[in-house]
Amino acid sequence: MLKMQDVNVRVSSNLGEVQILKNINLTLEKNKIYVITGPNGGGKSTIGKSIMGIYQVQEGDIFLEEEKITSLSITERAKRGIGYAFQTPARFKGLKVEDLLKLAAKDNPVNLYELLYDVGLCAQDYLHRDIDSTISGGELKRIEIASILAQNPKVAVFDEPEAGIDLWSFQRLTETFENLHKKYETTIVIISHQERILKLADQVILVKDGEISEITSHEKFLQHIAILDSECSCHNNCVKGGVLDVDNY
Ligand SMILES: Nc1ncnc2c1ncn2[C@@H]1O[C@H](COP(=O)(O)OP(=O)(O)OP(=O)(O)O)[C@@H](O)[C@H]1O
Ligand SMILES: [Mg+2]
Repeated sequence: MLKMQDVNVRVSSNLGEVQILKNINLTLEKNKIYVITGPNGGGKSTIGKSIMGIYQVQEGDIFLEEEKITSLSITERAKRGIGYAFQTPARFKGLKVEDLLKLAAKDNPVNLYELLYDVGLCAQDYLHRDIDSTISGGELKRIEIASILAQNPKVAVFDEPEAGIDLWSFQRLTETFENLHKKYETTIVIISHQERILKLADQVILVKDGEISEITSHEKFLQHIAILDSECSCHNNCVKGGVLDVDNY
């Protein structure tokens, strides 16, 4: 479905050219859920943005269903069925929730009530609201996720969908992700740090320092995390919950 082949991304900053992604190789299959996780600043959002065409890749290629899309614009990629929900969504002054969802859905036969329910929002309360500063961060996040669902994309990338979302809506949202790839044939990529989301994954992709350091099942990944959690990360041989060896400090 979607393939990244030897992808390198560099950007110019005030410190000169910075390499953000190094030799990313990924194959994402139809109808599967992938969760990208890893430390802050590791390159997760950059992978999502490269898939969407927000960041151009300098080396390597991206394919969607065998078509090379590396040099296509964001709009062209959206037309071909790629959707990306930002870590921090934008507000659209002058646009109502209903307008945004209809624009996103285009000719797809979507039920706006169901769509908002799927992200834990009551349609009656939200359809006619302006997407301006009066919408809270968590509400905005959920409206953006609904707009991606409305597109019914072939590949949907959700960047930290849990950020700012309350526990009750989060529960609804995880069910939505779970059902989404059963209902449609969407390849779902979720960038997340949440265990509940990790458990939805067919594969967990660990990204560190701009590289993929591991691709594994969520069971193996969570076992691995449990071991790391019981070890001290300060390299001074102290044991979590144990007695500190003061002489070593
Ligand atoms: N346009 C840019 N100019 C300079 N540096 C950038 C740019 N975009 C990203 N970076 C840097 O690239 C690295 C990867 O960023 P990215 O946003 O992909 O990380 P992330 O894994 O999504 O982190 P987080 O978990 O905090 O969201 C970071 O160190 C970031 O500061
Ligand atoms: Mg990020």
